[in-house]
Amino acid sequence: MSATTLLVEELDDRVVVTLRRPQARNAINAAMVGELHDVCTALEQRPRLLLLTGDGGTFAAGADIGELRERGRDQALQGINSRLFDRIARLPLPTVAAVDGYALGGGAELAYACDIRLASPAAVFGNPEPGLGILAAAGACWRLRDLVGASVAKQVLLAGRRLDADDAHRLGLVAEVVPADDLVKRAHALLDRMARSGELALRLTKLVADAPGGHPVTDDLAQAILFDSAEKRSRMDAFLAGGRS
Ligand code: COA
Repeated sequence: MSATTLLVEELDDRVVVTLRRPQARNAINAAMVGELHDVCTALEQRPRLLLLTGDGGTFAAGADIGELRERGRDQALQGINSRLFDRIARLPLPTVAAVDGYALGGGAELAYACDIRLASPAAVFGNPEPGLGILAAAGACWRLRDLVGASVAKQVLLAGRRLDADDAHRLGLVAEVVPADDLVKRAHALLDRMARSGELALRLTKLVADAPGGHPVTDDLAQAILFDSAEKRSRMDAFLAGGRS
């Protein structure tokens, strides 16, 4: 996959994507949106885990403000970032964001759209959009509330509160704070752990966990598929024979 704003490494069980626009602190522009859609297409066609990170000590400093400035109502209604982040949130297998440095605006929303976040001590999450005269319209208004609760979400969205790594960890927004040099390695270890699970089981667990409202019938239907899978029987046989994963 060729890309100009991303570094894409395709491995057997995962794809590693590094946001890379050093001249703009990895700000998300239209080219990056298009290239991230290409990554989604590849992951929808052949489901794998996703590790998303940023180059040069920044995750992403937001949507590209130069481009945002020129966008009007019709572009807002296209949901340029929100549809991409939704697509990422709905990828079949788990996604991990490894956040070093700033994750602001759309950069924060991209991290919120991932299933699990790890941070370096330098990570900073924030949504300064109202300061630019706009709202955080690519998921922060509801995803952040789900992640940290309405009170803190409103402090971030309305009062410009920035969450540093310790805040983010304490609030459960990030799973762990890891020295920057170890961040990607640690994210790979987390993905290794997930890769040892049954792929279909992970996929259906993610679907059910994200299903709006939750309903026992959904759980039962997903479980019915898994109960009839050969992988379930072979994994349980291995457990009963004394093997442990
Ligand atoms: N869009 C476009 N360009 C951006 C950008 C963005 N979101 N964020 C940073 N840049 C550019 C700057 O304009 C600057 O370009 P220049 O070198 O041509 O002047 C370059 O990236 C470096 O940014 P700078 O502000 O000098 O770096 P810094 O380390 O001092 O500060 C930030 C980093 C992230 C705190 C600061 O860049 C910032 O506040 N960015 C905007 C954050 C924001 O409001 N995001 C929400 C957008 S919806």
